[in-house]
Amino acid sequence: MASVLVVGSGGREHALAWRVSQSDVVDAVYTAPGNGGTPNNIPIQPDDIRGLADFAAERNCFTIVGPEAPLAAGIVDTFAERGLGIFGPTKAAAQLESSKAWAKGFMGRHRIRTARSAVFDDASDAAEYVDSVDYNVVVKADGLAAGKGVIVCSSVQEAKDAIRSMMEQGRFGGAGKRIVIEERLSGVEASYIAMCDGRVAVPMATSQDHKRIYDNDEGPNTGGMGAYSPAPHVDAEMAGTIQTEIVDRTLSGMREEGCPLTGFLYAGIMIQDGTPYVLEYNVRMGDPECQPIVMRMDFDLYGYAAAAASGRLAGMPPPRWRPEHAVCVVLAARGYPGAYTKGQPISIPDTDAHTAVFHAGTARRDGRLLSSGGRVLGATSLGMTLRQAVERAYHTADDITWSGKYYRRDIAAKAL
Ligand code: AMP
Ligand code: GLY
Repeated sequence: MASVLVVGSGGREHALAWRVSQSDVVDAVYTAPGNGGTPNNIPIQPDDIRGLADFAAERNCFTIVGPEAPLAAGIVDTFAERGLGIFGPTKAAAQLESSKAWAKGFMGRHRIRTARSAVFDDASDAAEYVDSVDYNVVVKADGLAAGKGVIVCSSVQEAKDAIRSMMEQGRFGGAGKRIVIEERLSGVEASYIAMCDGRVAVPMATSQDHKRIYDNDEGPNTGGMGAYSPAPHVDAEMAGTIQTEIVDRTLSGMREEGCPLTGFLYAGIMIQDGTPYVLEYNVRMGDPECQPIVMRMDFDLYGYAAAAASGRLAGMPPPRWRPEHAVCVVLAARGYPGAYTKGQPISIPDTDAHTAVFHAGTARRDGRLLSSGGRVLGATSLGMTLRQAVERAYHTADDITWSGKYYRRDIAAKAL
């Protein structure tokens, strides 16, 4: 029997730990540091790589990493040096996510379709560039910014304000000292996520996130306010195109460049006029996409992750997916992604058998469940139809209470 350590503390990590706990060959799941819903919380922070390695060694754990920061800091390299099993990319491979400038260069070298762009270290050069192009742009901090380092602009003035806020006012700290400016594309978005072992990429079920804070995709970008799976606009033909022209090329390109990619590869896609473009790469599961995807898994996630970590995906049976639709509605603290209050007592009613409430920003103190972050919970339901899944998830979302609960009312509405 295996022990598994899940690193992270969000809804994604709760969902991963929940699914891994159901494996017939796993008898212990630990979460570091976890949240108010995760099993066996270990008080070690994701940036304490040595502490995590010591724990994994002591308990003989296989480790699955949720968030990007420890991956970019080299957790996989350290674990590998110590002979510890871990599922995730090396620091070199994590550059696909940790530097948007590097990722754009990589896509250029390997003919992977993405928006036209330029990289800047100087604010006045960037402003001049914005004046010189005849299309709207998106301004992106080069480094990691918790999913918030992207400003989609509708005018030259907005773009210049975005450049100033990142490069001169330090809005995203060091992550925004260098920026990428790219053409603003339009179309429908999809999250295409695959499990990779360096050579082979096994696609996960398709999904779609809802990035903006308000209904009808208004307001600022967030980490993600809800997701559903499958995404109807990614039909078998589109999935095949994304797999061969984007995902497989990414894997072979990474191998050619000497940094083969193991772990989850997440391509954020914009389908414009029937053609998929890469908006960004992540080298981890999406959050909240993970929640509906995990609900639909009908295979042993631990077995797959362990096979991927040792380059054995080609020998695995194809993953099986439940035929139902899944929807996750994120419940956030009012004010997120700006300032919000924490420490509010939360009450979660019993749910139906088709629903799981995944915790994100929650903590337990003196036996009470309190809010402790911006995205607090994810009400996630299966349904025979998308409508049924939506109704179940919203039924649960409505019944959960705390002071300052906020959620979008239109998750999956466009697909209905
Ligand atoms: P990213 O973190 O790079 O995925 O960007 C966050 C969000 O910004 C995406 O999900 C899109 O909604 C939007 N976005 C990013 N790049 C572009 C682009 N080139 N054109 C239009 N929207 C974009
Ligand atoms: N939900 C988007 C992300 O995880 O980056």
